[in-house]
Amino acid sequence: MKNIAPVKTTSWKELNNHFQEIKHVHLIDLFNKDKDRFKKFSFTFQNKLLLDISKNRITHTTVQLLLNLANEMNLSTAIQAMFSGSNINFTEKRPVLHTALRNKSNNQIILNGFDIMPEIKFVLDKIQSFSEQVISGKWKGYSGKKITTVVNVGIGGSDLGPKMVTDALKPYKNHLNMYFISNIDSTELFQLFKIINFETTIFLISSKTFTTQETMINAKTIKRYFLKKVGNIEYMDQHFFAVTMAFRKAENFGILKSNVFRLWDWVGGRYSIWSAMGLSIALSIGFKNFSQLLSGAYDMDVHFQQTNFGSNMPVLLALIGIWYNNFFNTETEAILPYDQYLHRLPEYIQQSNMESNGKNIDRNGNQVSWQTGPIIWGTVGTNGQHSFYQLMHQGTKLIPCDFIAPIVSQNPIYNHHEILLSNFFAQTHALAFGNFFYKQDNIISSKYNMKNQYIEKFKFFEGNRPSNTLLFHKIDPYSLGLLIALYEHKIFTQGVIFNIFSFDQWGVELGKQISQSIYSDLSNKNSILNYDDSTLGLINYYNKSTLC
Ligand code: F6P
Repeated sequence: MKNIAPVKTTSWKELNNHFQEIKHVHLIDLFNKDKDRFKKFSFTFQNKLLLDISKNRITHTTVQLLLNLANEMNLSTAIQAMFSGSNINFTEKRPVLHTALRNKSNNQIILNGFDIMPEIKFVLDKIQSFSEQVISGKWKGYSGKKITTVVNVGIGGSDLGPKMVTDALKPYKNHLNMYFISNIDSTELFQLFKIINFETTIFLISSKTFTTQETMINAKTIKRYFLKKVGNIEYMDQHFFAVTMAFRKAENFGILKSNVFRLWDWVGGRYSIWSAMGLSIALSIGFKNFSQLLSGAYDMDVHFQQTNFGSNMPVLLALIGIWYNNFFNTETEAILPYDQYLHRLPEYIQQSNMESNGKNIDRNGNQVSWQTGPIIWGTVGTNGQHSFYQLMHQGTKLIPCDFIAPIVSQNPIYNHHEILLSNFFAQTHALAFGNFFYKQDNIISSKYNMKNQYIEKFKFFEGNRPSNTLLFHKIDPYSLGLLIALYEHKIFTQGVIFNIFSFDQWGVELGKQISQSIYSDLSNKNSILNYDDSTLGLINYYNKSTLC
């Protein structure tokens, strides 16, 4: 991958100059000038997805300059490097091949001289066979009863993806009850133990490394409760499974070798739902639907690799994000799904984006002098409208956002979906055009009686607030695969242009190490004096309080 500061490129300088010219131009003028703006700035993917980028503060020149930037940063070579298994996770000396997990072509993927597709196929077959046995009731618990409940124990990428997808695809769900345990806070387990029956529950201990503190402690506690209840360690074989690359550790934990589902070091945690980390997904919606999820992602992979950048959806979303993040200095991006089933999508994208691109050292090892990954947040549809949309419409900050909705509801009742979509369309419209648009037509002015000049100021919407719209036909396994892969490639593209390494996550390590040291101080009730005054004061206060 090219290793240069993006700010040193010619296109960056040109973008800076262009920004000075365009920064005050209003979307109203952009739309007035070009009656075909929607046609020119919207893109379709089969009949599954429409992406509209026309409500952005961009012109054709902006897009052209951004595309030049992508070319100057050698995006094509970087894409090729990822798909072909180069060690682009440089600081961990690993390739990044989550795309191989959903490779639906007959092409080999060669790593260190070997085709990795047969082992991927082997694990997929194992997922299929096991999930079918559990769903059909063939797989029995220790007392001979059918399995009714699946508990995934994992955190970060070993939790958020499976949890988000099983929720998003609830309409495709079978009879199995799904639970996800991630937090070390014992409240999660306390509540779980009140609900589950060990006789009919299986536990998936999902950890790529099998060392993550939260997962290991939760898994050990579950094992202790299980053994206390069933009294026979051999019964674990029907109930405990591991998804990991650390075979030996899983076996040492007490998990049968054949109950381990393999992961590889070239799958990053936050990109792992396509692997055995998606076992809970396959159990919840069946292997056929899981396979459809992979197909959607694969088709987005092909689109990303083969479509010219000017109509390449992940590339365009990435470049627009950079336009706001690095030229308008916007800092955040909101993810706003208008679909209850997608309620965990913002949280999922938050991890994949912020853990990937929240870096301040460039690929040369130098501190960056430009902004990298944005702050990602959001919530579902109209709930947000009655919460933070006030700030989006009238606050002092510019918040670029992605509005995501299905045309067809999975659960139509009366006219709810039409009303939901009316809100969806209304919001992007209001953000972009404010009430200028209506003032011209005298609609708002008569409605709100704007004669009172003072009050009028508070009712004024300046507009010019940008958004992308992603309109899906329906949120089904295939289109969810498209959507997730779209964001994965957007994040990758931005990482390439920021000149950072997107696939490591060293920033999570320090807190982990310090917590281990503090834990021994808490247990000893005797603080070793190596902390700052505040931390030491807090620890001592805690220790004294627990002694009382
Ligand atoms: O938060 C750090 C992290 O390493 C994530 O990247 C990862 O998804 C998560 O912890 C869980 O890791 P593991 O699957 O090894 O338990």
